[in-house]
Amino acid sequence: MNTLILSSSLSENSRSYLLCKAVEQELTSKGNIITFIDAKEIPMQPFHREISKEMKVLSEKIVKADNIIIGMGVHCYSINDSLKILLEGCFGKATGKFFGILCSAGGERSYLVTQHLSQICMNEWRMIQLPRIVYAISKDFTKNTITSKEVLERINTFSEEFHTIGNKLLA
Ligand SMILES: Cc1cc2nc3c(=O)[nH]c(=O)nc-3n(C[C@H](O)[C@H](O)[C@H](O)COP(=O)(O)O)c2cc1C
Repeated sequence: MNTLILSSSLSENSRSYLLCKAVEQELTSKGNIITFIDAKEIPMQPFHREISKEMKVLSEKIVKADNIIIGMGVHCYSINDSLKILLEGCFGKATGKFFGILCSAGGERSYLVTQHLSQICMNEWRMIQLPRIVYAISKDFTKNTITSKEVLERINTFSEEFHTIGNKLLA
């Protein structure tokens, strides 16, 4: 299957980017084709402003992808601003696609924030979510490495389930 992984953080030290890269590795090893999009490389304009050519390219890649994995950081108990811009500007044709969420936050208490993203994807484009999230917090990382055994196990389970269900939905 063709999976698009969107790492939506603009942080140079993004932890959700590390989650996205770990899942990319798992899914690639299972034979899937991954298109990895790093939001840091996309000049962005909010809605009602002229959309960048890189955002148009992302919209086209979303149309072609079988399914989508979104990496997000938590900002002010919600999704990060860059992700909101990319959702509004580029997800218009993501209708009905299977998707998964990888989330990085500062602390344990913001875990329900991923439901903001679920609501947007499910209500706006009737997307279908894998009922498992990878949620990691700052203490799960050491410098630029995921060091929590629990998070690493969850990445494996997430990837296995995304691979299995994603392929079944294509059949
Ligand atoms: C503007 C801002 C707001 C944040 N708000 C929250 C928050 O409400 N809850 C939380 O747990 N962490 C919060 N954080 C911490 C981030 O979620 C955390 O640094 C996470 O790793 C960000 O994802 P990233 O590293 O992929 O950019 C905030 C960080 C920033 C910069």
